[in-house]
Amino acid sequence: MLEQLKELHASALNELNEVSNSEELESWRVRHLGKKSKLNQILRSLGSLPLEERKDAGAHANELKKALESSLIEKKKALEEAYLVSSLERQRLDVTLPGWPIPTGRLHPITQTLEEICGIFKNMGFQVFEGPDVEWNYYNFEALNIPQYHPARDMFATLWVDSEMGGESRLLRTHTSPMQIRLMETQQLPIRAITPGRVYRYEATDATHESMLCQVEGLAVDENITLANLKGTLFQFCHCFFGDERGIRFRCDYFPFVEPGVEVAIQCVACQGLGCRLCSYSGWLEILGAGMVHPDVLKRCNIDPEIYTGFAFGMGVERIAMLRHGIDDIRLFYNNDLRFLRQF
Ligand code: DAH
Repeated sequence: MLEQLKELHASALNELNEVSNSEELESWRVRHLGKKSKLNQILRSLGSLPLEERKDAGAHANELKKALESSLIEKKKALEEAYLVSSLERQRLDVTLPGWPIPTGRLHPITQTLEEICGIFKNMGFQVFEGPDVEWNYYNFEALNIPQYHPARDMFATLWVDSEMGGESRLLRTHTSPMQIRLMETQQLPIRAITPGRVYRYEATDATHESMLCQVEGLAVDENITLANLKGTLFQFCHCFFGDERGIRFRCDYFPFVEPGVEVAIQCVACQGLGCRLCSYSGWLEILGAGMVHPDVLKRCNIDPEIYTGFAFGMGVERIAMLRHGIDDIRLFYNNDLRFLRQF
């Protein structure tokens, strides 16, 4: 009997050595510790042995059972540990591998242009202000010498927010010029200000028209401001933005809120002034409107036109960006096509 138990122990341990996963371990357990195992048969047959022998054999058989059970637990632990180690090994993070690039954004080309324009005027001592997109009829039109039936209202197809009935009414500003009035009403003189912002027009869109665009308005009010100051400031801007070589044209135009009014054009960027489709064969591209602030506009803001004078200008940022980068369709700016936007 003792011999048999010894053999059992040895062969069980041998087999256990070969076990390499939890299924094999379970079948090992059934074979050596289960109901039908040899050990169990021996334990059950103890009753038929004579008393003396039974005591001794019983003690040995139970010892073997305990020994096998503790070997089972040990093996189980060892298997679990090996599994953990191997799975950690498999999932090991190699911190020396190159990382995934994180896609970064960039500023929209209009924002870039806007910042460049503002930067040039800031260097000339202008302060930057912003104003509301939803504007009163008074600021957008009336205070700028554009009363209700003035033909200049045709220049602006207006998006109204409230109906015009009942006096004051609101609209989406059609230009940044209303900021001239707001500045003259609230700022102390002298004023040197630029106001970038969005403007809106009720218009069908095509390659050169959008219903929303950006403008930069400028305003200077002081004693002794002259047309020469306006011309000098705008030429300086054009030289900085378009380069010293580009020709600049400065000539009369009409806007109700300035007198005299002027228009600035640059030599065509496509044909260098020879004449092409872009410049309608004129050789020139208009880039902004400007003029000396109309005395009636000054008076409306409680500024005495006998003492103070001022100049104002306004430019469309999209148009300037298009000329700068050779873009032929304004709609590209707002289509959110990354293939286009990534180029800037
Ligand atoms: N507000 C005008 C427009 O949107 C542009 C303009 C012209 C602005 C003359 C000015 C100016 O300040 O003096 O077409």
